[in-house]
Amino acid sequence: MLKKLGRNDKCWCGSKRKYKQCHQAFDEKIERIAQQGHPVPEREMIKNADQIAGIRQSAKINIAVLDHVGQNIHAGMSTEEIDQMVYELTTKMGGIPAPLHYDGYPKSVCTSINNQVCHGIPSKDVILKEGDIINVDASTILNGYYSDSSRMYCIGDVGPEKKRLVEVTKECVQLGLEAVKPWGFLGDMGQAVHDHAFANGYTVVREIGGHGVGLAFHEDPWVSYNSKRGEEMLIVPGMIFTIEPMVNMGRVEIYVDEANDWTVYTEDGKPSAQWEIMVLVTEDGAEVLSY
Ligand code: MF3
Ligand code: CO
Repeated sequence: MLKKLGRNDKCWCGSKRKYKQCHQAFDEKIERIAQQGHPVPEREMIKNADQIAGIRQSAKINIAVLDHVGQNIHAGMSTEEIDQMVYELTTKMGGIPAPLHYDGYPKSVCTSINNQVCHGIPSKDVILKEGDIINVDASTILNGYYSDSSRMYCIGDVGPEKKRLVEVTKECVQLGLEAVKPWGFLGDMGQAVHDHAFANGYTVVREIGGHGVGLAFHEDPWVSYNSKRGEEMLIVPGMIFTIEPMVNMGRVEIYVDEANDWTVYTEDGKPSAQWEIMVLVTEDGAEVLSY
């Protein structure tokens, strides 16, 4: 139970202003929407200005890492070499790769090729070849602040079917982003993502979603793309979460590799694509912090 603040108490957000001049009206608006039966964010999900500044700095490393991968990725290299690039640039810029030792994860980045849906583990034995599509998912800790985003890279000449999957998945994320509005709902975004994938004959993985991020790697809320407009959690300014749908060319079913307990594959062996952006909800829309 949260302490009920008096009008003249200092606001909970750390602004040092009186509650009545800061978040009181905001809290009351959330409370009214909660009373209508909607899930609403906890205070911990709402970042203050200092936290946002810290997360922004962390995201700069995350973006630089993915840019750097994009400039250097090529057929014939191993995913282990991608891992090394990510580790070296992240640490050179003062950050820590968030995946390293996270829940026992052994590497600094996830590299998921073709029918791998996510959490592909870099290895010197996995060599990129012409025609592959690969998701590189990088996450960074800087001064305790987390950032998380991923991109698809096409290796050399990629066939039209896979290329379309990669492009449509990116469009899904963009349409999802456009549906993020303060005082809207996460389902507005989820449905925008899902509808576009579905209209193109694809499926969207159900079991793995996006997440709040910033003060930890994975925070609440859990972000689904199989949700409906007007449903799921209320979105308010100051929330930061990822949009990261995994879009399958074929059937929606997935399984986890029993050998490493991490890597997720499509059940039917068809390709899967994913882009991930980290979004800050603002007073009048949304800002992409990392991509
Ligand atoms: N970066 C992934 C995400 O987008 C999480 C990877 S967990 C790891 O949420 F341990 F595999 F890195
Ligand atoms: Co993520």
